[in-house]
Amino acid sequence: MYIGDGNDGVKESPNIIPAAILLSSQSDLPAIAELAGVIWRACYPGIISSEQIEFMLARMYALDTLCAEVCSQGVRFYRLLVEDRFVGFASLGPTAAADVLKLHKLYVRPELHGCGLGSLLLKHCEQEARRSGARRLILAVNKRNTRAQAAYQRNGFAVVDSIVTDIGGGFVMDDFVMAKDLLSS
Ligand SMILES: CC(C)(COP(=O)(O)OP(=O)(O)OC[C@H]1O[C@@H](n2cnc3c(N)ncnc32)[C@H](O)[C@@H]1OP(=O)(O)O)[C@@H](O)C(=O)NCCC(=O)NCCS
Repeated sequence: MYIGDGNDGVKESPNIIPAAILLSSQSDLPAIAELAGVIWRACYPGIISSEQIEFMLARMYALDTLCAEVCSQGVRFYRLLVEDRFVGFASLGPTAAADVLKLHKLYVRPELHGCGLGSLLLKHCEQEARRSGARRLILAVNKRNTRAQAAYQRNGFAVVDSIVTDIGGGFVMDDFVMAKDLLSS
């Protein structure tokens, strides 16, 4: 029984979910933006307003924004495939500190939550960060997004800061910053 990760072989697991994780190219970005819309509109009501969901989707998932991240900001996107179906994604990018990478995005289709796929994708990003020479991985998560916080905590992340960021349009991102030292695992 296994969850398979396309890059580093099969993993022992209580579930039988053959999954692959692939580095994305620019041609994958429209599908990533589309899947983000599906997941955000299903998972974020109750965490942020529908107006803020649409505002942030338009701002963060415009193709120009995603292309700039990939082409000029050193951000890498990874696609999660289950039985060849594109069901989730993550993105990882540099920070001002050479040995710290930021997990910008981690998303799995809602009907597949609770199967360990988010953790699989997260572990893959940690491994990629280590391969890049990073010693620490950081992320920001909405303070009301307790499910994601629990998933990060299960995977060894801890809250290190609390930040409120004005994103324009009358909206703020009210986040915890979480971090994990990669050398210790
Ligand atoms: C955050 C998110 C990626 C987590 O994904 P997930 O697959 O549900 O999370 P996990 O991999 O940690 O699995 C969670 C559950 O599966 C269970 N599980 C079952 N089989 C498992 C396995 N083989 N391995 C690991 N966990 C397994 C865990 O015990 C856990 O159960 P619990 O929640 O009852 O404790 C997902 O909830 C998501 O996409 N949310 C919406 C977007 C979002 O908020 N993203 C984060 C932005 S900062």
